[in-house]
Amino acid sequence: MAAKYKIPRGTYDILPDQSYIRRFLQDKFREAAETFNYREIITPIFEVADLFERTVGDSSDIVQKEMYKFQDKKGRIFALRPEGTASVVRSYVENNLDLKENSSKLYYMGPMFRYDRPQKGRYRQFYQFGIENIGSDSPYVDAEVIALADTFLRNLGLKNFSLEINSIGCPNCAKDYDNALIEFYLPQEEKLCSDCRRRLKTNPKRLLDCKVPSCREISQNAPSMLDYLDDSCRNHFEEVQKYLKIMEIPFEVNPRIVRGLDYYTKTAFEFVDNNLGAQNTIIGGGRYDGLVKQLGGRDLPGIGFAGGFERLQLSLEAENISISTPLHPFIFVIAVGEKAKKIGINLLLKIRKNGITGEAAFDKSSLKAQMKAANKSKTDFALILGEEELENNSAALKNMETGEQELIPLKSVLEKILELSSNFS
Ligand code: HAM
Repeated sequence: MAAKYKIPRGTYDILPDQSYIRRFLQDKFREAAETFNYREIITPIFEVADLFERTVGDSSDIVQKEMYKFQDKKGRIFALRPEGTASVVRSYVENNLDLKENSSKLYYMGPMFRYDRPQKGRYRQFYQFGIENIGSDSPYVDAEVIALADTFLRNLGLKNFSLEINSIGCPNCAKDYDNALIEFYLPQEEKLCSDCRRRLKTNPKRLLDCKVPSCREISQNAPSMLDYLDDSCRNHFEEVQKYLKIMEIPFEVNPRIVRGLDYYTKTAFEFVDNNLGAQNTIIGGGRYDGLVKQLGGRDLPGIGFAGGFERLQLSLEAENISISTPLHPFIFVIAVGEKAKKIGINLLLKIRKNGITGEAAFDKSSLKAQMKAANKSKTDFALILGEEELENNSAALKNMETGEQELIPLKSVLEKILELSSNFS
């Protein structure tokens, strides 16, 4: 038999034997974010397209080429979200979160959509985790945001990653820098790729992270943003580094980090895993001090990051970190004969209602077939309700690892199972 439909290109199924890994990553991210006192925010998967066009920016690849845009029945233009920051800030402003307590440190997780050429670590639907910290321009906050990302990665057991930071300045210094870049690239324009020739007009900074080898070579000698920072931006960047040192978080300054989205100001950073090949940024983020105001809110600064679970999973594989404890039943109820089945059905439901994972194969009648199913399920215990046991008003409880078996009076079976499960690690 052949499947009639195939999954869309650039997407993937997470099959049942893998889904616990995704859940593990989500749990770990939630745990890290909440220990830094962030609260979860959940926004829709689609928004008015204009929101992204104006914030992520017309000159970004995301808006230029990668947005999934569609028209609804009333002719309005929406887009599947390509990232989370614009949506979170939209919600922050719309819901006046600046006036509410505990609402300025936000985390989120969910699918994002970008129509790009799929490759290892790059998908058209991918799953991001991220945080946004709105309201403070203190360089300490920059370092703390970075510390959260670092803590999350280390809690996963990852070691082979590095942190690269840069400052792309505020709109004032960025203007001088853009002019310097144009002056530098213009005489060599014909050697640039067609994307870079376009970027030279729309956003010259983006030339710095072009992956085309000839553009890369030219960019080696490009002026550095760090030489164009004004006093306040330079001071901010130095303070961020000071706090990172206090926190003992290793980093490198990389003036080539420009980030692909237009809303960034000042600090920009990337966590890179060099084992991963071309798509090696596992987390990227930075400041966006003008974004809240741009979306109609007060003039509040902000900073955040996001990363993709897919790349994290590749990093875990590259470092041979395996995640154990796939789900399996704690108890498998085996019942032979009509009377036993009735008792078994009832017991299984009670076990589950008490929050214990239980399973059975009541569609099979023989002891042998049910035992086989119990073995296959990798259950910790089997509870056997056979004819002989029932005659003695009891059930046999078998420890599947040791093979030990004990007879338990029927009336105390549930109690025994509850006790066992609370002692079982
Ligand atoms: P971004 O650099 O566009 O930033 O994406 C952040 C991360 O999402 C990347 O480093 C990568 O791990 C993952 N990612 C991006 N595109 C794909 C893809 N096609 N397939 C798989 N993974 C992908 C942002 O999205 C900003 N909103 C981050 C941010 C939050 N800045 C401030 N706050």
